[in-house]
Amino acid sequence: MRKILFLVIGIFLVVVLQNCKSAKTSKYEAPTTLSYNKDIVPILQTSCTPCHFPPDGRKEPLNSYETVKNNISAVIERVKLPKDDIKFMPFKSKRPALNDSLIVVLETWQKQNMPE
Ligand code: HEC
Repeated sequence: MRKILFLVIGIFLVVVLQNCKSAKTSKYEAPTTLSYNKDIVPILQTSCTPCHFPPDGRKEPLNSYETVKNNISAVIERVKLPKDDIKFMPFKSKRPALNDSLIVVLETWQKQNMPE
């Protein structure tokens, strides 16, 4: 009888400890503050060069904090369009399209009032 009791307590402890561990390593982390330099620049450099990066690119510049901040609404609107929309960016899919999680990064940054 005692053995069974210990066994039950043992299993109980293992389950509890495993839950603690997975809570710590969970991918749902507390929201952090994004920044232009750390989070936004890499996305734009991957998908919006060279067209929006003067001097090579001659389209609306998206190569500085000010220009991106002033155009963030249009940027988000364009990358969320269907890929076959004539206004979709990146233009003619010449660069990698933004996946949903990258679009969320842009939207979160906008909601956080665009920290530099
Ligand atoms: C291959 C070149 C190319 C790439 C790459 C590209 N664009 Fe564009 N972009 C254009 C062209 C050409 C226009 C003008 C035509 C139009 O408005 O659709 C434009 C226009 C825009 C406009 C409208 C500017 C205005 O003054 O109204 C925005 C915003 C924009 N692009 C954002 C982006 C973003 C964000 C990316 C990266 C995810 C990107 N573009 C990638 C060529 C490009």
